[in-house]
Amino acid sequence: MMQDDIFHESEADNWFLRNVDYLNAEGSTADDPVLRVLDCCGMHPANVAEIGACNGFRLAALMKRYGCCGTAIEPSAMAIADGRKRYPDVTFVRSTAAAIPLETPPFYDLVIVNFVFHWVDRSMLLRSVAEIDRLLAPDGHIILGDFAPAYPQRVEYHHRGERDTWTYKQDYAAVFSASNLYSLEAVLPFTHDSRELRTDIAFPDRIQVNVLRKRGQERYVPASRPPDASGS
Ligand SMILES: C[S@@+](CC[C@H](N)C(=O)[O-])C[C@H]1O[C@@H](n2cnc3c(N)ncnc32)[C@H](O)[C@@H]1O
Repeated sequence: MMQDDIFHESEADNWFLRNVDYLNAEGSTADDPVLRVLDCCGMHPANVAEIGACNGFRLAALMKRYGCCGTAIEPSAMAIADGRKRYPDVTFVRSTAAAIPLETPPFYDLVIVNFVFHWVDRSMLLRSVAEIDRLLAPDGHIILGDFAPAYPQRVEYHHRGERDTWTYKQDYAAVFSASNLYSLEAVLPFTHDSRELRTDIAFPDRIQVNVLRKRGQERYVPASRPPDASGS
């Protein structure tokens, strides 16, 4: 079975059940790296989508702070049911990142993807990237947090007890910036466990929150065409 289907059917609910107490604890967003990066960069988003948003805990905090709109895209039915009760102002959509049932426009000026790409099925990674690109407004930002290994690696996802599910660790910001359609505006390293903003940490404790900006053709240098060139 494809990894996206495994999460949609059961594993997303299982992750939510393992983490629900922590997520819903008083002050759980106080040291949230994504919210701190938003502060550091002086961003004031108006319309935010979060992929793998769980029960919308971060979006709700962000909506309170910035008075923005928030849409949570999440495969866990349980997380969504919990979020609808706790955060009625958040809009919830049940889906994985690869096929998001939202029409565009309207676009979002900020898309958050925090610790999600590492579970996306490899056959769905580029589709997921394309969906995020589709949702994002021109000049909009992506905040992308994930593990920060020196080279791409996969680790067995031990919660299922079978050798068919993986956590894929790599620099996902590079997937966007390699297209030349995104510029990497900021990279902030945090410790995975204690969530300290520190530069002197190495993988596996090092995680990274990246800020990417969607750019247009200004990222291409205009080159003059030789007189006899066909133009293709
Ligand atoms: C490690 S949790 C992180 C939750 C939250 N983003 C955070 O920062 O705490 C990963 C989240 O992504 C969801 N998820 C798993 N596979 C996904 C996929 N293919 N597309 C979108 N979300 C996915 C899970 O259900 C879970 O809520």
